[in-house]
Amino acid sequence: MDRTFKGTVLVVGATGRTGQWIVRRLEEHHIPCHLFVRSSEKAVELFGPEVEGHISTGSIENSEEIKSALEHADAIICAIGSSVTNPEEPPPSVIDRDGVIRLATLAKQKNIRKFILVSSLAVTKPDHPLNKYGNVLTMKLAGEDAVRELFAEKGYSYTILRPGGLLDGPPLLHALRFDTGDRLATGAIQRSDVAEVAVLSLFMEEAHNSTFELIQTDEINQTSLRHFFSQLPSGTVL
Ligand SMILES: NC(=O)c1ccc[n+]([C@@H]2O[C@H](COP(=O)([O-])OP(=O)(O)OC[C@H]3O[C@@H](n4cnc5c(N)ncnc54)[C@H](OP(=O)(O)O)[C@@H]3O)[C@@H](O)[C@H]2O)c1
Repeated sequence: MDRTFKGTVLVVGATGRTGQWIVRRLEEHHIPCHLFVRSSEKAVELFGPEVEGHISTGSIENSEEIKSALEHADAIICAIGSSVTNPEEPPPSVIDRDGVIRLATLAKQKNIRKFILVSSLAVTKPDHPLNKYGNVLTMKLAGEDAVRELFAEKGYSYTILRPGGLLDGPPLLHALRFDTGDRLATGAIQRSDVAEVAVLSLFMEEAHNSTFELIQTDEINQTSLRHFFSQLPSGTVL
């Protein structure tokens, strides 16, 4: 199968722990990317001086900074997230809700056709213990809702990934379980595998206008994660 994505992908939150893997997996697939980051020094430290011409710096709180980053995008993979335990950082309402809504709105205005969002398992469960931290899950759901609403229009496409607890191991070493309807009570997954699924979602038909949960199951070497997309139902399920 030689399906791929043609165009440049703007990675929003590229210096985050999942974002870094997204950049690496895009490189692995030979898909060009542009990075939207808060610190270009951090980006160069992580990816080397060769990324210098492919960085836009700014905050998800600033529309003008987002707009100039969008100049370099045919699609977006967004892996930002608030630091819920750091009182110095803006709360989930500012990043996971308003920031994602701002990004999605400006991307749609710019006629960018494809939006992939890394969200979280359990966003539809307001009583989940994680929601004690600034209602982070509810804020993420509001961000998701905006992406779905804006990008469900004909000619556009969205994929919302809801991973379980994130781990820091290498990719392609586990089987994955995809599910819809936010039914998985618990589970974990490597950030690297979330990144690979985000990249594949750019061109896998089954990911088109889809919202799904993803966790890992058995430890088993994978040559590709493409076949896991067949677990997704056709049609839109939340
Ligand atoms: N932790 C978990 O177990 C878990 C489980 C499920 C889902 N998730 C979600 O998965 C996603 C990725 O998680 P992660 O742990 O890989 O994230 P992370 O390492 O905390 O990275 C978050 C990214 O967001 C960026 N960011 C924060 N505020 C920003 C702002 N105002 N403007 C622009 N960028 C901003 C950070 O920039 P800097 O690099 O400059 O700090 C960083 O790149 C998040 O949405 C997270 O909520 C996490």
